[in-house]
Amino acid sequence: MDKVKIGIIGTGYIGNVHARIYSRDERAQVSALYDIKTEKAEQAARTVGGKVCRSREELFENCDAVLVTTPNKTHTEIAAEAVERGKHVFCEKPFSIGLEDAGKLLEVSQKGSGVFQVGHNRRFAPVYAKLKELLGEDKAHSAHIKMNRGELKNPVWTGDTNVTGGFLYETTIHLFDMLRFQFGEIEELVAYGSQHEYPEIDEFSIIFKFKSGFHCTFASSSDASWHFPFERIEVFAHHRTIMTEEMERLIDSRGMDANFETLSWAMTEKEERWGYVQEDRAFLDAILTGTKPPVTALDGYKSIELVESVYRAIRTGEPIRFE
Ligand SMILES: NC(=O)c1ccc[n+]([C@@H]2O[C@H](COP(=O)([O-])OP(=O)(O)OC[C@H]3O[C@@H](n4cnc5c(N)ncnc54)[C@H](O)[C@@H]3O)[C@@H](O)[C@H]2O)c1
Repeated sequence: MDKVKIGIIGTGYIGNVHARIYSRDERAQVSALYDIKTEKAEQAARTVGGKVCRSREELFENCDAVLVTTPNKTHTEIAAEAVERGKHVFCEKPFSIGLEDAGKLLEVSQKGSGVFQVGHNRRFAPVYAKLKELLGEDKAHSAHIKMNRGELKNPVWTGDTNVTGGFLYETTIHLFDMLRFQFGEIEELVAYGSQHEYPEIDEFSIIFKFKSGFHCTFASSSDASWHFPFERIEVFAHHRTIMTEEMERLIDSRGMDANFETLSWAMTEKEERWGYVQEDRAFLDAILTGTKPPVTALDGYKSIELVESVYRAIRTGEPIRFE
């Protein structure tokens, strides 16, 4: 079996994470790297191999599958171009910025011949896979969710809305995708936001109601602190609370006494604990078996729809209902 030739556009932090993972997978070969800063592609090539390309065109000529791991605002253009060149595409989150571009990319991706997967890695993190398994045992009633950051300064572009599309596109979007993954489709949301330390809305309180009747509160602050756990889901069911703490830990408390069981992934290597290894394996599986990837372009689009709906709810002060 020929190895899948992987081309990586954007060899910064996350591009290197994926590059290292594919360089260890016997079904893949990192064959081409491109970064607008050539020295970054050269640096990555020294660790994982592959041809350092001088243009996207040259990269397309040297790979079967393209990873789009550049800053947010570039995703739509690069991913669409890769699809049109007949490549399989793995696009880091966010899928796109704004509903118009997201709609265009969705359309392009659906006409493409290859696999299109979006980088919502948390779906693959063992803690969230376990949460989904446990939620299959009980009917959950409601949840309380938090997704904070410590700053919008690192990488430097995370505080620039012209690059990110807004704070919700940065980190919060991961748990917007998680809402659909764990609890199903959303029916309605109300949201409040305020602006403090950055020139954009940087603090959010949201309530989501799901088609199933489930509902949850969701808080997201851009500069609270990196205090553990910056990301937490607490789910409530009949005499049961299940709580996740980042990708490290799940605490399951059942019954009428104060019993609880703790599962920990603290000793699991980070690339696996955060689900990157599993999502990259899933991308290869979909390519090699011709099957649908586990996180589709439509999932990517829906996460953009949620981000834009929250911003609209804050602007208008009105609840947003989904069909
Ligand atoms: N899924 C996750 O957990 C996760 C984690 C980190 C980042 N991300 C996402 O991945 C993307 C990259 O983030 P990062 O932290 O690696 O950023 P980064 O700044 O470390 O790396 C981005 C790289 O892209 C290069 N670049 C910029 N514009 C380019 C272009 N037009 N063509 C080619 N190269 C270009 C830059 O020179 C840089 O090397 C972002 O969209 C971010 O939201 C996802």
